[in-house]
Amino acid sequence: MAAILVIGSGLGGLLAAVRAADAGHQVVLVTKSVLPESNTRYAQGGIAAALFRDDSVDTHVVDTLRAGAGLCDPAAVRVLCEEGPARVRDLIRFGVDFDRDESGVARGLEAAHSRSRVVHAGGDATGAAVEAALVATVQRRATIEVREHTMLVDLIVDDDRVTGARVLGPDGVQLSLAADAVILATGGAGALFTHTTNPSVATGDGVAAAWRAGASVTDLEFYQFHPTALAVPGTPLVSEAVRGEGAVLRDQLGDRFMLAEHADAELAPRDVVARAIASQMEQQGGTPVLLDATALGRELLETRFPTITAACRAAGLDWAVDPIPVAPAAHYWMGGVETDAWGRTSLPGLFAVGEVARTGAHGANRLASNSLLEAAVFADRAVRALGEPWRASTTLSPFAVLSPSFANATRSEYLPHPLFDPANASQPAGSSPSLVEPAETATRTPPAGLGTLVNRQTLQQLLWDSAGVHRSGVGLRHAAHSLTQWVSPPATSPDVAALEDRNLLDLARLLVSAARAREESRGAHYRSDFTDTRPELARSYSQSRSLIPAK
Ligand code: SIN
Repeated sequence: MAAILVIGSGLGGLLAAVRAADAGHQVVLVTKSVLPESNTRYAQGGIAAALFRDDSVDTHVVDTLRAGAGLCDPAAVRVLCEEGPARVRDLIRFGVDFDRDESGVARGLEAAHSRSRVVHAGGDATGAAVEAALVATVQRRATIEVREHTMLVDLIVDDDRVTGARVLGPDGVQLSLAADAVILATGGAGALFTHTTNPSVATGDGVAAAWRAGASVTDLEFYQFHPTALAVPGTPLVSEAVRGEGAVLRDQLGDRFMLAEHADAELAPRDVVARAIASQMEQQGGTPVLLDATALGRELLETRFPTITAACRAAGLDWAVDPIPVAPAAHYWMGGVETDAWGRTSLPGLFAVGEVARTGAHGANRLASNSLLEAAVFADRAVRALGEPWRASTTLSPFAVLSPSFANATRSEYLPHPLFDPANASQPAGSSPSLVEPAETATRTPPAGLGTLVNRQTLQQLLWDSAGVHRSGVGLRHAAHSLTQWVSPPATSPDVAALEDRNLLDLARLLVSAARAREESRGAHYRSDFTDTRPELARSYSQSRSLIPAK
């Protein structure tokens, strides 16, 4: 029996805790808020899996690879699609009551899927149903100790092995939790951006802590923007499944602008639709576009999409009668802590599952409704790998390694990253003449004064403007420069928001660094100064603090 520390309580964390407990391990599950609060809870569309007779694992693999724009790890995609159906059946055993229709389990179509294969529960409340079933399962396991309101601060590393974590407890006191293995399941970092579909807990705590501990983090430039968040405060998600049912996008004159953008119109890949909406919004002075679901009829809207119907109603909108205003919002991070196909990171003793991980299953752009699937498949695998001998702690894949990193490392410990040295801000070191960025105007968020404590709203606006749906070298350079001006709150802070800000600043620097380095457009990463996909750049970028030579 081993002591397993699971950090995070979305699908990945809950399932890992249950599986580890059932395998006879002693489990401590810590979560920053209450047990049911996580990104999982807000997932609407459902879970994609090859469960139906007219579908196959191979077809799901092809769709996933195509969406991933040349950057998926084919082995990870195959694992995802092959093991997915069994994990969906597990969820049914844990009590998830997937919706049914006259043909059996009901299924929906979402963008870039060549088959209707997305199973859902409670209409558009799939994540809430999954979360509730797994929370109840965790609560029935006596060998899982749950600690709520407990935030990951940093991982503890002894002799190049993760041996536990320092956490901030509900009383504002930091303490160390020792473990034989740590499973990170802390989710994504929508809080990096002004507009996000994520709950406020999504501040990337696991990616930041893993990076500070020396783990490889990969593909951080790839942040997916969901095309349709309701353009009201809180930006609630309006599932892609709504377009799958036949809703269309209209500009302010009522015209269907997606018809001219892509052969699949509203069901084009998510990144294509998000960019088209952002461009359309720019053309119409920043006002949101309209999602017209009126043809679907009130009965279907209210029974199939009760969560969205409630969100519309709360905003004073009746989507059975009028088109609703929608705009893109940060939704899902394809990048994260690099893992192998068993959830193992580059640091022995540390696993990562769910959105915090970069398994390679999503590449440059995740296929809709593959996220819950990935969390379930790789949480299950990580627990199966507990106790196996750890493979060599070298870089997991033959990826390109970005130049040495930076963040709030003290200058005496780490070499400064040339891109983050303010002295180089006007012309990044290593720029070749052919890469000189065109004279264009970037939206400028005013930089803070040197040494100012990071301000979350300013950071979010900076990333939204410079590293959002549309990016450019000029904007990214401005962001990189601004990010050098801020300092982090101390790691010893007793304050959750301050520790989150520390993580967000580290992650903003890493994301911008990766986005600057990728001088092409691919998947969710679009640069107006490099609009083409460059075949020679079909590789991932890793960043690791452990690769930095000490002075
Ligand atoms: C949606 O329902 O549109 C979101 C599903 C996903 O992010 O995969």
